Amino acid sequence: MKELIARSLKYQNGMVQVLDQYLLPHQETWHHCENVEQMKSLILALKVRGAPLIGLAASLLVAYLAEQGSSKAQLNDAIDELTATRPTAVNLMHCMARLREALQQPEYAQAVVTEAERLFEEDCALCDRMATFGAELVESGDNILTHCNTGALATAGVGTALGVIHHAARQHSNIHIWVDETRPLLQGGRLTAYELAQWQIPYTLICDNMAASLMAAGKVDKIFVGADRIAVNGDFANKVGTYNLAVLAHYHQIPFYVVAPVTTLDSSCASGQDIPIEQRAETEVTGVSGSFGSCQWAPEQAEVYNPAFDVTPAALITAWVLDTGVYYPQQVAAGVLGTV
Ligand code: MRU
Repeated sequence: MKELIARSLKYQNGMVQVLDQYLLPHQETWHHCENVEQMKSLILALKVRGAPLIGLAASLLVAYLAEQGSSKAQLNDAIDELTATRPTAVNLMHCMARLREALQQPEYAQAVVTEAERLFEEDCALCDRMATFGAELVESGDNILTHCNTGALATAGVGTALGVIHHAARQHSNIHIWVDETRPLLQGGRLTAYELAQWQIPYTLICDNMAASLMAAGKVDKIFVGADRIAVNGDFANKVGTYNLAVLAHYHQIPFYVVAPVTTLDSSCASGQDIPIEQRAETEVTGVSGSFGSCQWAPEQAEVYNPAFDVTPAALITAWVLDTGVYYPQQVAAGVLGTV
């Protein structure tokens, strides 16, 4: 496999390497990954996270195993196991389907490697196109709110929603970002704040429950978020808390944009009701843990509900920013997302 280098994933010196996103921003630790069990646990622990990145990391591992001489049956099993790690992010299923297709070729090992390389390079190009289209929606002086982490850490390129912010900040020197901390795992507070600081884009970190009062005070001009899966009718799943923002934005008449590559569209989901939502461990809600240590604040026996994602209905979305262009509600209602 050729050398492939992204912000949090690389294939270098014959090894698949991932940046541990659970330890960021205080510690930059890279893990080598040589087998399915390792990759599964990295993904399940959200050390490897973000819809596009999960698919690409799993793909590089399958390609590495193909290069190491794994049989067709072993590669098929690896694809099955990796596909099952996170149920909502459809980019993973998309990548695994492309590799399964490559496995049908007579020279299957080389075909899998070539396909994994393509997926990686395509993702960089998809990010750039989304960022370019999305940046046109941003105006000088905008205060933009974003949720979770959708930047270079979550993709092979510049990111989805945060990629738009990156490109917009290069065009307008005076934009400012409100960063939702994004409970329970704090992808905003830990990762988005870290990326914006590195990009030298001015930001202010807020707790998730502060967004309403900021909107009421006229301090939010636009909202950009990413997606883990978009249904044909335009409903989409993203990090839990996204739906809250969409409802608030609608009430306050603030434009609400979702940014995603075509690999996030799922033509088998007619609406958001068809999107499976991942449920995660209770410990993520009863306390917090990370590079700083861990602490539990809830009573031992507390009942917990912990869906990792929620679904935002199409009716609350101003426009869908894809790598193929910006789509508005009339086009989406006419079924355009089923054809791009
Ligand atoms: O659970 P995570 O951290 O993988 O969730 C990530 C998100 O919800 C992102 O918004 C989404 O994957 C788009 S990332 C480009």
